[in-house]
Amino acid sequence: MSKKKTAAIVLAAGMGTRMKSAKPKVMHHIAGRPMVSHLLATLDAIKCEQTVVVVGPDMEDVERAVAPNPTAVQTDRLGTADAVKAGLAALGNFKGNILILYGDTPLITEQTLNAMLEARAEKSNPAVVVLGFEPVDPGEYGRLVTDDEDGELIKIVEAREATPDELAISLCNSGVMAVDGSLLGGFLARVNNNNAKGEYYLTDIVGLARDDGFSAAVVEGEEDELVGVNSRYELAQVETILQDRLRERAMKGGVTLVDPATVYFSFDTQIDPDTIVEPNVFFGPSVTIGKNAHIKAFSHIEGTFIGNGASVGPFARLRPGTNVGDGARVGNFVEIKNADIEQGAKVNHLSYVGDARVGSGANIGAGTITCNYDGFMKSHTDIGEGAFIGSNSALVAPVKIGDGAVVGAGSTITDDVPADALALARGQQKNIDGAAAKLREKKRALKEKNKQEKNKKG
Ligand code: UD1
Ligand code: CA
Repeated sequence: MSKKKTAAIVLAAGMGTRMKSAKPKVMHHIAGRPMVSHLLATLDAIKCEQTVVVVGPDMEDVERAVAPNPTAVQTDRLGTADAVKAGLAALGNFKGNILILYGDTPLITEQTLNAMLEARAEKSNPAVVVLGFEPVDPGEYGRLVTDDEDGELIKIVEAREATPDELAISLCNSGVMAVDGSLLGGFLARVNNNNAKGEYYLTDIVGLARDDGFSAAVVEGEEDELVGVNSRYELAQVETILQDRLRERAMKGGVTLVDPATVYFSFDTQIDPDTIVEPNVFFGPSVTIGKNAHIKAFSHIEGTFIGNGASVGPFARLRPGTNVGDGARVGNFVEIKNADIEQGAKVNHLSYVGDARVGSGANIGAGTITCNYDGFMKSHTDIGEGAFIGSNSALVAPVKIGDGAVVGAGSTITDDVPADALALARGQQKNIDGAAAKLREKKRALKEKNKQEKNKKG
């Protein structure tokens, strides 16, 4: 069994009117990237050599999202066979396997695509392999008519054209196919639109292949991987299925998820073993976490690297460009953006650290703010190793706090602080002996006087 090279045509021409959206359907995100990008990644994983995405007119954002894969435009929506024809032209003279996929059906797995390619390589050499499935509700899906004896696929009938006997068939057409690339063009050229919808049906190529003496076969997939997105409701369903997969992948990889259903991953979230993720954590794109880290509840993390043994949250917000070093600690109600929190540093409470470096072992007191933006420009704050920033300090960037320096609590720091210096930038304290007691006595007397005057009047 030798596998041929593989190319793919991804149909993505539909706007998806039921999405009620200004953007093309396949651009809606699941797990942090457009649906169509998930499909392209799966095709990469099976070493697909060439992929063309068939788009509708004016879908430049899809073209950008799928680049460097080429796109082909289907100008009029004449049916699935017509869409595939538009794509095929862009594949040149490709003679291997051609997979036909749908941009709005993004959950199809590598395993299923590989099973289809293996079926293509069987001795019977089927010209067309169709991915079938048995949905709970066969509804409007095309039905797969198979030979009772050898299981070969005889034809696909669209629901609206099926006889009652055919409608009773539970095996349905997912739409996904693997076709012999040297034959596909010839089949498509002979598809006509003499049918209920007046469309060019891709499904007709099964009958055409058999007319030419070739066989066709069915491979079965799971309904879960074949959910198509036509509405926001289905978009959410697909997200749920994908999140379950990502949670399972994390746990299989050695990550503890205390309450998996409440943790949201992006497609590329990467977490090493023995890290614990508490409930209600959201990972946006580009998050990498080392081992033995602890991500506490209600944290929102994106574009961030977190080192081994680091601790983050609860209620932390880590924005793009954040690096949390090994063993560093980021505590509750802390926001960090574009900053390096070096090894063992601590930012434990109620701080904003943006465009900054916090040197290893430094301690940032509660309520410290890096004032990185003056309304026009962003500036950098550099905090040296082992520095100590007292609580409620404002560090007005650009500013540099030297190694081992101490900033007194409540300081507004506008000038650089040398290494090992103590910086105090706040009003000086004055204690007046006995003045509080005197003040209290004065107020009490005033209150008593007011009360007596009121009684006299009443
Ligand atoms: C198609 C199949 C049906 C199958 C079902 C699975 C045909 C004739 N029928 O039916 O057997 O059970 O899919 O969902 O193929 N598209 C284009 N250009 C077109 C027409 C369609 O790009 O001109 C794309 C659509 O955006 C969609 C996909 O192809 O992603 C399927 O098209 P749709 O019209 O929904 O086909 P169905 O009638 O559902
Ligand atoms: Ca459909």
